[in-house]
Amino acid sequence: MLLLLGLTLLACGDPCPQELAPANDAVGDTRPFDGYDPASCAPDEAAWADHIAPIVDAGCASCHGPEPAFGAPNDLTDYAALLDGEPGNRLVDRMARRTAMQTMPPPNSPALGHDALDALVGWATCGQVHPDPTVGLRADAAVWDADIPEHAALPAFDLTAPGYAVSPDTIDHYQCFAMDIPVDEPRFIKRMQVTLDDARVLHHVVLHLDHSGATQGLDAFDCDTGDAGDTGVTGQVWAWAPGTGAFDFEDGGLLIEPGDRAVVEIHYNNAAGLTGVIDHSGVRVFHGPVEETEWTLAALGPAEFDVPQGDSAVCDSSEVFALRRLLAGMPHMHELGAEFQAWVERADGSREDLVNLTGWSFEAQLVYRFDALVDAGDHIRTRCGYRNETGADAHSGNRTQDEMCFDFVFVGPP
Ligand code: HEC
Repeated sequence: MLLLLGLTLLACGDPCPQELAPANDAVGDTRPFDGYDPASCAPDEAAWADHIAPIVDAGCASCHGPEPAFGAPNDLTDYAALLDGEPGNRLVDRMARRTAMQTMPPPNSPALGHDALDALVGWATCGQVHPDPTVGLRADAAVWDADIPEHAALPAFDLTAPGYAVSPDTIDHYQCFAMDIPVDEPRFIKRMQVTLDDARVLHHVVLHLDHSGATQGLDAFDCDTGDAGDTGVTGQVWAWAPGTGAFDFEDGGLLIEPGDRAVVEIHYNNAAGLTGVIDHSGVRVFHGPVEETEWTLAALGPAEFDVPQGDSAVCDSSEVFALRRLLAGMPHMHELGAEFQAWVERADGSREDLVNLTGWSFEAQLVYRFDALVDAGDHIRTRCGYRNETGADAHSGNRTQDEMCFDFVFVGPP
């Protein structure tokens, strides 16, 4: 979408292939349960009725209904029966484990989306366990893992949610906090790290940079109501989900200047119905002098498209006009995303893969190491595959219920 640094966008010539990999092909691990004591948890009945029973009705009750079917051993629709028995071996405990490990629903039944999975497991464990959002995710590029502890000694500032009240019925709420970047001279961002406050309700955190001042005058707003107008909070530079460490630049960094703004987007989910939650989570930004490589963010991908019901794909192509280095890329889709590919089509017709990813989860927006050189005449191609089982067509747009298809790529000189 952006024209940046010698890249421009062309429509995708070839049709997009439409086959998607089968869903639910992975068996997860039980690490999120380490240290969890089921005896401390009696899942909330009102939250069950309001948020969780509908998930079980839609995803499980075809087998685990009042009259279990297809070999399912029990009814999972009765609150009292779920909580009956010895903590650790109650149905509610077994439900949390089987869904978090993704051995339920069985293969060939539609997998729970990550939000529903997290809501169910979060409720069943009183907000204490969050399933690993990368379960099921398969990518053939290395995840960006540069961890440079010395950067933690650099000057830093916090971009923090100013005491946000997360009500007991908050489900999938995207709250945005816009603020000034407090620097008085140009600096490079060297490291980004999440500052966790109430982890029980925190689902994921995204940092956007606004160099244009478009968010001037905004402070806290619902990311999905469009209060931000056309600021199109898409200058996404980093995303955090449970399990993600700090992000460090090995060489150079991202330029921030006096007058720049930032938007911290926090996805809250209080599936356990916890009361009195006031969250102060945010992002800590460590910065250094303007030295070595300046990396710029290019948002590659189609701007406008439809996501019809069923399986579909969109793709896009950006032409390269000068020798550039692609440091890393962060695929970005919303909740209907299923798979993602980025590759370079060389001027000579050959192809070099940047990343092939299946099992997309909105919660696991990881940065992948590309470290590829591109030159004039090459094209960078982006392809997003969607699986839309909502029963309604969707479209591209900024709201979470709309879709996006971007590869946020850090581009720099060779
Ligand atoms: C297509 C049918 C089907 C669907 C849909 C399904 N299950 Fe199952 N479930 C089974 C069968 C069959 C078994 C027994 C075999 C096994 O344990 O794998 C089972 C076993 C289980 C068990 C183990 C029960 C025990 O006594 O330990 C749990 C827990 C469970 N399912 C939870 C779920 C949840 C939660 C969902 C929805 C998110 C779900 N299942 C969706 C068929 C289904």
